[in-house]
Amino acid sequence: MNSWESLKQECAVCRACGLCEGRTNLVFGVGNEQADLMFIGEGPGEQEDLQGVPFVGPAGKLLDAMLEMINLDRSIVYIANIVKCRPPHNRDPQPQEMQSCRPWLERQIELVDPKLIVCLGRIAATALIREDFRITKEHGQWFAYGQRRILATFHPSALLRDPSRRPEAFMDLREIRKEYRALPGTNSL
Ligand code: URA
Repeated sequence: MNSWESLKQECAVCRACGLCEGRTNLVFGVGNEQADLMFIGEGPGEQEDLQGVPFVGPAGKLLDAMLEMINLDRSIVYIANIVKCRPPHNRDPQPQEMQSCRPWLERQIELVDPKLIVCLGRIAATALIREDFRITKEHGQWFAYGQRRILATFHPSALLRDPSRRPEAFMDLREIRKEYRALPGTNSL
């Protein structure tokens, strides 16, 4: 069994926190397992829990449109979440739940080995960039994540609630595209 298969199998039976009690499906990740660019959201919603795939509900439709704007799609990038099981009533994942789930995400990041990571929303940014990260002030800027680079932009659900943020999110997407195109082997996109 290769590393991806064993990771998925181990993760599928995870009971490290209480979120496992309410899951229909664990939502592991989707996309290109060798992507240079990885997107990380917060946690599954209702549709994701039912289908076992990240970002397939209304926020997912907007995420797909955002990717399309920069000539990307799910066959090119990898998409995962901070927590792999749906929090009840779509509440924010709690710190202890994010901590319990973190080893799965770290192993995904190691296996995908992306050069660039994009946090979708404040929750992912506070988990991965800095605890007191301010999405409204610090979105669109690159930070270090070990040897990798990481940036946060607005969560697609936030953009659905508040479309006035869309121009700023578009600027972030342009920044992501610029850095992605500058990577070796990706300049034709
Ligand atoms: N919101 C997230 O953060 N992740 C999903 O997979 C879906 C909605």
